[in-house]
Amino acid sequence: MKTIITRSISKAASFIKNGEVVAFPTETVYGLGADCFNGSAVEKIFRLKGRAKDNPLIVHVYSKKDIKLLASEISIVARKLIEKFFPGPLTVILKKNYIVPDLVTADLDTIAIRMPSMKLSREFINKCGVPIAAPSANLSGSPSSVHWKHVLDDFKDKIPCILVGPVVKYGIESTVIDCSVDPPVLLRPGVITFEQLRKIDRRISLKLSGRIKSPGMKYKHYAPQAKVIIYNSKSYITDYKNSAYIGLDRPREKFGKICICSSLTEYAARIFKFFRDCDYRAYKRIYVQAVDERGLGLAIMNRIKKASSE
Ligand code: TXA
Ligand code: MG
Repeated sequence: MKTIITRSISKAASFIKNGEVVAFPTETVYGLGADCFNGSAVEKIFRLKGRAKDNPLIVHVYSKKDIKLLASEISIVARKLIEKFFPGPLTVILKKNYIVPDLVTADLDTIAIRMPSMKLSREFINKCGVPIAAPSANLSGSPSSVHWKHVLDDFKDKIPCILVGPVVKYGIESTVIDCSVDPPVLLRPGVITFEQLRKIDRRISLKLSGRIKSPGMKYKHYAPQAKVIIYNSKSYITDYKNSAYIGLDRPREKFGKICICSSLTEYAARIFKFFRDCDYRAYKRIYVQAVDERGLGLAIMNRIKKASSE
């Protein structure tokens, strides 16, 4: 199969209508999408990514009306969160409706729903005419794709179509909050911060470890081929030539490749691309500077920790 790279929304949507998978951009990262009601199309996503069947997918909707189709119960807090943050980089987990195939939700009685804000993603989902089940468009375990070329690296000639869009705005994945329980629980930190969520409901808590509610969080994630090492002021580095560095502050060492970010927003936007660039140039180690786990820093540290875990 030859992968078609296109800017045409209707061309990309025609593959979805034929039960195929299509990679498409969102404001966070690229997604690998299929018609959420077509079990065999969704099956292809799992196969292509090498994704465990116990790791459910996010369903992407065009309009808020579609949420009622997919979810059986929307709590008051969930309503407030949807009102405030949809469309945008927030995924809410709700009790699911029976029409959604169990494969999409990994046999859970809940469903993850997101409404992207990127105009192109919305037009694409609208053109498909169905909600789109989509995980991030990368091989399981690898860094998420923030450019169509990354998607091509992972899925060249394995998927029929990549919808090309503008540069993604955020570069890390959406915040995932479980609203099927009361009070809601933050399962994956992301662009919408814990502090922003707590302004909607002070009772919202954080659960990033312990008994794992978000099945995806137990797997190694976001990791390049190079070894990722968390860097702080006490780090002692010997072989810096074969190593790369990314962070907010200029390091003391003369690393082979250095990326200094001027803000947390830029750090988040650049980190996955940096990981992939380091792999193209065969760096052995990537030192990533630790940041305070506040605001967007919580999401950045979450990704760095997963990428550096053995
Ligand atoms: O920004 C994003 O969220 C991107 C774009 C493409 O929308 N998508 C994305 O999908 O990051 P994925 O599959 O890489 O991550 C989805 C996360 C996983 O950790 C998964 O376990 C969790 O959401 N999840 C999905 N459905 C769930 C559910 N019903 N209950 C708990 N966690 C769920
Ligand atoms: Mg992912």
